[in-house]
Amino acid sequence: MPSNPPSNKIKVLFVCLGNICRSPLAEGVFRHLVRERGLEDRFDIDSAGTGSWHVGEPPDRRMRETARRHGVPLDGQRARQFTARDLEHYDHIFVMDRDNLHDVLFLDREDRYGNKVRLFREFDPEPGDYQVPDPYYGGAQGFENVFAIVERTARTLLDRLVAEYDLDQTTA
Ligand code: 4NP
Repeated sequence: MPSNPPSNKIKVLFVCLGNICRSPLAEGVFRHLVRERGLEDRFDIDSAGTGSWHVGEPPDRRMRETARRHGVPLDGQRARQFTARDLEHYDHIFVMDRDNLHDVLFLDREDRYGNKVRLFREFDPEPGDYQVPDPYYGGAQGFENVFAIVERTARTLLDRLVAEYDLDQTTA
């Protein structure tokens, strides 16, 4: 028997530029919704940034405070940089904007993993331009706006994954 059997969890990664605002929020909100539905054993959830500037840092204080006001703690997260190995490891990679999409696919040198990579807001019922705006250089309202976008998109995304993987049946 293999000492380390492969996980049957659904591996989900959220990606933005710095991994301190949008993708840690998406990770935290998605994790929160998964827990609410009692599905935490079925998912492996993480986030990463295409840039390296903030590696090792917790999420931006403004993002943490906004999330906490909405009942979603972002404790324990530390920024890390997206790598080509993530393309192999994760089943689903959700990127926050088109620059992230470009930067992630740039690392897919043999064009093997493109089908795993999607714009997160493809799942937003009100998708706008399909990108989550970067709140980093803006004011408080930008963080609230990002929270609203991420919250409704993460809900729809989880509904879609529950349907795709028949998760309601397996936990009933
Ligand atoms: P994020 O926001 O990609 O949502 O984490 C940013 C955070 C930091 C920077 C840019 C975007 N930065 O340039 O340092």
